[in-house]
Amino acid sequence: MFKKVILTIVMVTALFAASESSYPTHWKNFASVKTTLATIGALPGCDADVSTLPAIYQETVATYCAIKPGGPGAVEILVNAIAKKAYTKRNGKFPDGATMILHLKDLKVLFVTTYKNNKPLYSVYTENGQDAAGDVGSGLNPQDCRKCHTGYSAFCVNGQCASLK
Ligand code: HEC
Repeated sequence: MFKKVILTIVMVTALFAASESSYPTHWKNFASVKTTLATIGALPGCDADVSTLPAIYQETVATYCAIKPGGPGAVEILVNAIAKKAYTKRNGKFPDGATMILHLKDLKVLFVTTYKNNKPLYSVYTENGQDAAGDVGSGLNPQDCRKCHTGYSAFCVNGQCASLK
């Protein structure tokens, strides 16, 4: 009985720290696009002055600046060809599958948004496919992604935050 409770706790913990969709094996075929963040080119460290940026960008820097000394570093935004139309139009109508990636190039990590029945699922993978989702509150848990990506309704449309520049 006791053992069963512990096993359940371990399983539930693992569930909460796991990515919500599978690794997009074909991510290298996604096209890089120009957005506000892609134009800046990197996520800075915690001492950067980001006071002129929109609040969602300030929160993004605050969430990730301490991940590594000096900040997460170089980034690019990748969009799957199947999602190019929805991404460009910002109409929130995404096809099933992995659609958009925030590629943390220096960290070799992929933040992946995947859609199922037009609902966004969030995942974190290393470039070579290891699930790198973290605990809730670490910034690397799907719940953390969802909180920010749905918390700025004036900014993000059905999971998509940026637009093309
Ligand atoms: C505190 C806010 C915040 C959190 C937390 C956050 N994001 Fe984002 N995300 C953003 C912003 C802002 C952009 C737009 C950046 C740009 O200008 O391209 C973005 C962009 C993206 C993109 C590119 C497509 C788009 O929506 O513009 C993906 C994919 C993405 N995030 C996935 C994730 C995943 C997966 C997580 C969790 C591990 C996550 N994000 C956590 C704010 C956040």
